[in-house]
Amino acid sequence: MAVDSALGHEAPGKIKVAIVYGGRSSEHEVSCVSAGAILSHLDPERFECVPVGITKDGVWTVGEFDPEKLRTVDRVMPQVEMVREVTLSLNPNRAGEFRFTDGELYAKVDVIFPVLHGPYGEDGTVQGLFELSGVPYVGTGVLSSACGMDKEFTKKLLAAEGLPVGKEVILRGNQELTQADKDLLGLPVYVKPARGGSSIGISRVTSWEELPAAMAYAREYDHKVIVESEIVGEEVECGVLEKADGTIVSSVLAQLADTHGGAEGFYGFDTKYLDSVVTAHIPAPLDAETTKQVQLLAADAFRALNCHGLARVDFFVTANGPVLNEVNTMPGFTPISMYPKVMEASGIAYADLLAILIERELPAR
Ligand SMILES: Nc1ncnc2c1ncn2[C@@H]1O[C@H](COP(=O)(O)OP(=O)(O)O)[C@@H](O)[C@H]1O
Ligand SMILES: [Mg+2]
Repeated sequence: MAVDSALGHEAPGKIKVAIVYGGRSSEHEVSCVSAGAILSHLDPERFECVPVGITKDGVWTVGEFDPEKLRTVDRVMPQVEMVREVTLSLNPNRAGEFRFTDGELYAKVDVIFPVLHGPYGEDGTVQGLFELSGVPYVGTGVLSSACGMDKEFTKKLLAAEGLPVGKEVILRGNQELTQADKDLLGLPVYVKPARGGSSIGISRVTSWEELPAAMAYAREYDHKVIVESEIVGEEVECGVLEKADGTIVSSVLAQLADTHGGAEGFYGFDTKYLDSVVTAHIPAPLDAETTKQVQLLAADAFRALNCHGLARVDFFVTANGPVLNEVNTMPGFTPISMYPKVMEASGIAYADLLAILIERELPAR
């Protein structure tokens, strides 16, 4: 483990970027794969990379320097291994300092790229830590991260702006669907943890007898559950990038193909990350008018949630037009992830995308 490479090689002029990855959420492994791809795409002429892993238990450690070790091999996804504990200074006069527990400096970084998905990473908690510590960071701030993570509040904010969203019922604690709820939703429904991602904890329910098992499964991940009517349409994803001058750019669209081809029957975790079933058509084979409509809605959703820097906005394109599904404030950056792919197809190569996201945060936001 080349701990010394962050300490020893002082690279004057280069921007020191902490890639913070892993974390306590169920998307730990996805984050590791995203971090590996970022490590291998960051321009070494401009950036010096300081990997910081967060174990599944939430301990911050010196991370992996070798992107090859952060790849999925034979369906086994990488995890953060404990190397040596580090903590981020909360003293704004020492902003960006990562120290070992004995006080020795690991690295002082200019900016943090939190490539963390899910709770404790994409939900405003870690963003609050960075705000307190006074270090610039890539991506959306506290409020928008928290709202984007929570499917209830995402939909409320989008609906408040008049943007099209589907029907849902929120269940807290031990609440169950009433007959009126069932009549409203109809079948099939999707039962989801309200604050989840990567399809983890989600079931498609086609008869009400399956509901209790689906509820129990979702509640393994969150005590708040969202039950949605099925929306029939093509799944379309749009990348949004906010440039340094504040311009909001919507990417060309990706249309997922064969999302029902895996054993799960929808775009579930295995189908997404392990089975290599899903392919995407980029650009999506939609007419020009629908494409424009989706791109405008993606930018509207970005603004409705007060996002910053980047987001991936997901849609269903139905016979009656596009319906918003969700807003991901820290989308995946894995080699098969849609966000870097749609940006690339829009003329922004992966390395340039990283540079735009990082450099716009300097100097301090
Ligand atoms: N209301 C719905 N109608 C149809 N398909 C859905 C619906 N909700 C979720 N899905 C399917 O489940 C997948 C994961 O759901 P999503 O809400 O995007 O959760 P996650 O945040 O885990 O990605 C979607 O990509 C889609 O294939
Ligand atoms: Mg999704």
